[in-house]
Amino acid sequence: MKVLVLNGPNLNLLGSREPAIYGSQTLADIEQQLQQHAADHNAQVRCQQSNHEGELVSMIQQAAQDNIDAIIINPGAYAHTSVAIRDALLAVALPFYEVHLSNPHAREPFRHHSYLADIARGVISGCGALGYHLALTAALTHCRAASQ
Ligand code: DQA
Repeated sequence: MKVLVLNGPNLNLLGSREPAIYGSQTLADIEQQLQQHAADHNAQVRCQQSNHEGELVSMIQQAAQDNIDAIIINPGAYAHTSVAIRDALLAVALPFYEVHLSNPHAREPFRHHSYLADIARGVISGCGALGYHLALTAALTHCRAASQ
């Protein structure tokens, strides 16, 4: 099983970016833990990050070419703006999980709407870095069940 973990804009700054909201772990820390979690379950993760909407679209398209089984995406602010990322996820039709470190519903009104949430397999918000771990557990569980 292969899972793509995709992070959008400004998430490369985790660790130093508003730590009271996003925590003190770096993206590299989180990705390393996900690699380990996947390896413990005979799975693989590909971790990618971009600050550019079009690059995220291309990474989603490439995932389908590369037989990725599921996507975990923290789209950052693009959750609230990007029809293009929504369309890419619809186009590849891979199961995906939307993760937010913070709880956008407890923040400014412009963060309350996500262009991805209604087409996601699951959404995890407000659990900090644990959210990625929970999403990976869900992805591995659901994809294994589907392939049996
Ligand atoms: C975020 C929430 C978004 O509203 C924000 O723009 C981000 C991070 C989160 O992980 O909590 O960049 O996706």
